[in-house]
Amino acid sequence: MAIVSAEKFVKAAHENGYAVGGFNTNNLEWTQAILRAAEAKKAPILIQTSMGAGKYMGGYKTAYNIIVNLVESMNITVPVAIHLDHGHFEDAKEVIEVGYTSLMFDGSHLPIEENLKLTREIVELAHAKGISVEAEVGSIGGEEDGIIGEGELAPIDDAVEMVKTGIDFLAAGIGNIHGPYPANWKGLHLDHLEKLNAALSEVVPGGFPIVLHGGSGIPDDQIQAAIKLGVAKVNVNTESQQAFAAATRKFAQEYNENEAEYDKKKLFDPRKFLKPGIDAVQEAVEERIDVFGSANKA
Ligand code: 13P
Repeated sequence: MAIVSAEKFVKAAHENGYAVGGFNTNNLEWTQAILRAAEAKKAPILIQTSMGAGKYMGGYKTAYNIIVNLVESMNITVPVAIHLDHGHFEDAKEVIEVGYTSLMFDGSHLPIEENLKLTREIVELAHAKGISVEAEVGSIGGEEDGIIGEGELAPIDDAVEMVKTGIDFLAAGIGNIHGPYPANWKGLHLDHLEKLNAALSEVVPGGFPIVLHGGSGIPDDQIQAAIKLGVAKVNVNTESQQAFAAATRKFAQEYNENEAEYDKKKLFDPRKFLKPGIDAVQEAVEERIDVFGSANKA
């Protein structure tokens, strides 16, 4: 069975100096594209739904079933974790019941004591079922599903306390933001990551896996430098969306220019109309897997 908790393969990535991708899905076709990419690259991956995407897909149970059934029907052999991205407490509890194999409880908007307390509760519930847990301190900039962060640097003391809750990997802001980076973005604060990594290494021998959110649009050399400093999971959403939109817009433009011919070929069929966009998602995911170094690590 290719569906697993992410704990072991994120740990393996951390120990061996590469990162696995946490790729957000939105629907059946995106899930197929991500799975095809992971299988082609022989890479372990997390397929993640945000709370909004879970709702969009008809609820977590539907999202879960789509992923599980596709993994089976597509004969996927690489390890796949079904992960909740930025979940509220109740959503985290819900996906535990539904069968997700990994989850992020995001209490970063709460006072740290409250965040730690609720994370401990989720860790207990999730680990009892072998589900891996990600938590966040500080906040990641940008906007995702209505959660708006300022792009701060994660307080190191909070990160150390969070790791002690028993989580499996930690999201911590190092100047990264969700969504497209503004033109005046200063880049990742690798100096802060270095301090964070050093502090966590004092609590956990060998260091602790850090999650880089807002993976879209960060220059590759910065991502790779971050991986050397403890990042073992990189989240990507916007880049897949942009790849899909660009290819779909191009195809629609061509369609407008060759309407009679395309109509004759029945390219209005959604299975054909969406194909360029979906292929672009697969290509984008494969390209990211190469940059993160997780190809052939399944
Ligand atoms: P991007 O949309 O910027 O790639 O961020 C994705 C993410 O961090 C999901 O949690």
